[in-house]
Amino acid sequence: MSASQGGESDRRRPADDEFVMPSLRLDGRAALVSGGSRGLGLGMALALAHAGADVALAARSTGQLEEAADLVRRTTGRRALVLPADASRVEEVRSMVKTAAAHYGRLDILVNGAGINIRKPSTAYTEADWDEVMAVNLKSVFFACQTACEVMREQGSGVRLPQGKIINLGSLSFEIAVPNVALYVASKGGMRQLTKALAVEWAKYRINVNAIAPGRFWTVMTDPVFSDPELYDSAVGVIPWGRPGVPSDLAGATVLLASDASDYITGQTLVVDGGWLASGGVKG
Ligand SMILES: NC(=O)c1ccc[n+]([C@@H]2O[C@H](COP(=O)([O-])OP(=O)(O)OC[C@H]3O[C@@H](n4cnc5c(N)ncnc54)[C@H](OP(=O)(O)O)[C@@H]3O)[C@@H](O)[C@H]2O)c1
Repeated sequence: MSASQGGESDRRRPADDEFVMPSLRLDGRAALVSGGSRGLGLGMALALAHAGADVALAARSTGQLEEAADLVRRTTGRRALVLPADASRVEEVRSMVKTAAAHYGRLDILVNGAGINIRKPSTAYTEADWDEVMAVNLKSVFFACQTACEVMREQGSGVRLPQGKIINLGSLSFEIAVPNVALYVASKGGMRQLTKALAVEWAKYRINVNAIAPGRFWTVMTDPVFSDPELYDSAVGVIPWGRPGVPSDLAGATVLLASDASDYITGQTLVVDGGWLASGGVKG
């Protein structure tokens, strides 16, 4: 076992005699992106493919998946596999991970990007609302991670460490709350702690588990806000950068957390929000 791998009996100072700049390239790696058919998930998949990874894209709508895969192939030259799967069904989630790994012969990167939001006053939520939001935003994330861990911990030994990179697509709801999205906030709060729990447990397998917390991005999910001029002004008013995020704004964080450059980063959340959280929500 090398010094960089650590080990119970190895208490020497890890070797760092020669500075090596880690690469941000992902050539030869295989990635699975749930929610990869559109919006932030597609943006993250494009970033991974531009950095050299082959990708598998999962979501429910096969038509959107086919379009997304075509975009990946056309603009990056990388391979793109379409995986129709419903994240609210655990068996489909497990099968999605196994199919991606079998197709590419390995799985190096898992992005848990599928997510939903149901906006209601908390007094109006039903048990069915609770079950749906938790199933897609939290339960599916756990079982995708669990299945990916089974694959990742068996691969790469002696060839390359770490063996896997997991990125959970979180939210500023990791830190703050706004009215009428209690179930979403609760599910993302769970994701934040799950990210830490898996990171500390799977460090021994050299699997990194991190999260990205986007601020306000203009996607299908947030179109009702940003396509209304009044709501647009109030949403953007608290973003120091002065505009909503777009999917490519997540590219840098995604490639960093998927690459060797983040090998010693785990259990963390990288906030990508144009300064919103730092501003405390105060209009500039
Ligand atoms: N937009 C923002 O401002 C923002 C901010 C913070 C965090 N986020 C997070 O970013 C993620 C993506 O959001 P987005 O804004 O890109 O939303 P979006 O455009 O609505 O995309 C959601 C993605 O999740 C998939 N999905 C939804 N339900 C699914 C299910 N039951 N099974 C499988 N896939 C499912 C969708 O595909 P199908 O509908 O075809 O299944 C789609 O690919 C979410 O986790 C969201 O919480 C977004």
